[in-house]
Amino acid sequence: MLTLDLTNCLDALAATDFDTLSGRIPEIHATIESGSDPRPGSDYLGWRHLPESLDADGLGRQRDCAARLRALAGRCVVAGIGGSYLGAKATIDALGSDHPIRFAGHHVDPEAVAELLTEVDDGDFTVVVISKSGTTTETAVAFRLLRDVLVRRHGAKGAAARIVAITDPAGGALRKLAEAEGYETFAIPPDVGGRFSVLTPVGLLPIAVAGIDIEALVAGAAAVMGRAAASPDYPPYRYAAARTALHQAGKRIEVLATQSVRLAGVCEWWKQLFGESEGKEGSGLFPASVRYTTDLHSLGQWMQEGPREVIETFLAVDTPAADPAIPAGGDDGDGLAYLAGRPLSEVNEAALAATRFAHLTGGIPNMLIRMGRRDPRHIGALYAFFERAVAMGGYLLGVDPFTQPGVEAYKQAMFALLGKPGTTFAAADAWQSYQQRKTASLDLAVDSGRPAKP
Ligand code: PA5
Repeated sequence: MLTLDLTNCLDALAATDFDTLSGRIPEIHATIESGSDPRPGSDYLGWRHLPESLDADGLGRQRDCAARLRALAGRCVVAGIGGSYLGAKATIDALGSDHPIRFAGHHVDPEAVAELLTEVDDGDFTVVVISKSGTTTETAVAFRLLRDVLVRRHGAKGAAARIVAITDPAGGALRKLAEAEGYETFAIPPDVGGRFSVLTPVGLLPIAVAGIDIEALVAGAAAVMGRAAASPDYPPYRYAAARTALHQAGKRIEVLATQSVRLAGVCEWWKQLFGESEGKEGSGLFPASVRYTTDLHSLGQWMQEGPREVIETFLAVDTPAADPAIPAGGDDGDGLAYLAGRPLSEVNEAALAATRFAHLTGGIPNMLIRMGRRDPRHIGALYAFFERAVAMGGYLLGVDPFTQPGVEAYKQAMFALLGKPGTTFAAADAWQSYQQRKTASLDLAVDSGRPAKP
């Protein structure tokens, strides 16, 4: 079960347009369900019907493929970035894996890539390469390096048997390569954007390779998705209306806070979902995340007394999978006798309540999302909760939540710098003058740092 508690932001909401925004929910819900928004994002509403819409690439074939990959090698490297990696990573971090999984293709750090290549140089690995466009540089470069190791160790045919490609059903460089080399492939539905793709093979295949129950994950998501489709009066939409009202009243940052170490990856997934969906046309809450109580000892001061432009959403697990009791401590040298015999979950809950209270009194309104357990069903439900919420939130804000035009800007500049054939750099003049400015300010920094001459 998932619950949403708005108690600690009701006072703040009273001074906002929360009621007006809430009143718009049924109309926007109808727009989401009918796909009638005139902007391009309406072509990407397929996430509402996942995974029933996967047909031949449904759960059975993914389970079989996962079993084949697990039997073939001692580890699996999943190459992808953004929406083509965060959902799988979040789920595997949250629920664990009984098969070693490594992630690649989500950066171009030469040192980290070299470390991974050293680790897998024995060739005892499979690769799941994931790219909807099939042309993402980070992923394509990592895949080329990994494929090179496999070909060296197993020959072209042996390598091909160890590679699975998840990409566009028809076009793109990866689709062509996969067909030419004979890799097993899965299709990413064209009407599902990257950050909404965790319940397609993009997320589900790596999750299945990790040995996680994908049927339960999907069942959890389907339960929330179905209820949201049937009723606009549903918690994800109230969460969307509350955070949008607070944003429009001047809040600029939403911090997703969890005390579950295992949910840190889910927070990363959430950051992409909300950042890429809402951060456009000069609006959108900046999605940040923290892990408590750890970060209370680094960011706690800022949260308590820094700029009051923040809202906080707590993500808590009701029943932990394990719950050690604090032992009796003999002569009470550490002063913890008052906690003896009490479960750690009691300390954790006290920390949650205390932090919510302290931050509220410090001027940060907060919401609380509780999940019954950290298991596949609840994680799936949480994904559907946030996907529904961000769709509503984007429309309430007035932006198209299903596009991401802004992510192209750095790619254009990077391709120009690397001399990628066939690319043109629309901002070439601006780039030239930027370069000059950068050089000048760097020189200054170096000069001012030099010791004075005797
Ligand atoms: O959400 C998105 O659309 C992006 O984050 C993409 O998933 C990311 O850029 C990777 O793209 P691709 O799957 O085409 O390699």
